[in-house]
Amino acid sequence: MKNFRPAFRFAPSDANWWIWGNGLTRNTVSATPFLKNTCQQMTKIETTEWLKGRVDSNLYCHSAATQEMAAKLADIYGVDMEKATLAGLLHDCAKQMSHEELISHAQHYHIRLDHIRLAQPGLLHAPVGAKLVHAELGIADSEILDAIAAHNTGSKDMSRLGKILYLADASECTRSYPGVERIRDLALSGDLNSALLTTMDMKIRHVLEQKQMLHPMSVEARNDVIKEIINHIDQ
Ligand SMILES: [Fe+2]
Ligand SMILES: [Fe+2]
Repeated sequence: MKNFRPAFRFAPSDANWWIWGNGLTRNTVSATPFLKNTCQQMTKIETTEWLKGRVDSNLYCHSAATQEMAAKLADIYGVDMEKATLAGLLHDCAKQMSHEELISHAQHYHIRLDHIRLAQPGLLHAPVGAKLVHAELGIADSEILDAIAAHNTGSKDMSRLGKILYLADASECTRSYPGVERIRDLALSGDLNSALLTTMDMKIRHVLEQKQMLHPMSVEARNDVIKEIINHIDQ
């Protein structure tokens, strides 16, 4: 098992504050408590370097493309831009850990190890990733952490941020599986729950075709979305 590294220490005086290129300025960055908190703990460059130390170039490309798609969806669905880009960039930070490392980290962070996660430890990269960005980058925003923790399975009561991360991950511009154009068009159409349900159905179908176990979180997430569609809840 890899040693757990100490949390990053960022210099608050660094001039390269966490500012994405999506119209955010230093003033807008300091406008909310979360963003102010983010500024005090990390810079964009340092966070990117941290991620590059954990993923290969292909996965970094996917992460950057997910970040870009998450920004587009945040704009369409009225989600906080910085939270969306941060979640998009970091969501797969634990994806390239070995199964042994994932299980060790899950034990360390007291993540529930149900029999499906034990049989398919790759599923753990989402909740372990959320714990890592909290522990090592100091990101404490629960909406970001929850979105990262459930970006692969989905979950009950997903926030808008969680939904757009789930969609951005599946539809970013480097994805090329059959049907991705439909998912992308739906995601950009402004009908969040329809896009989400179609994406969930496609991912669940894939799990079934692969004869893998379906995690109950995916079923709960899908049931929730259907409930919202039936009740015309615009989430
Ligand atoms: Fe992932
Ligand atoms: Fe991903």
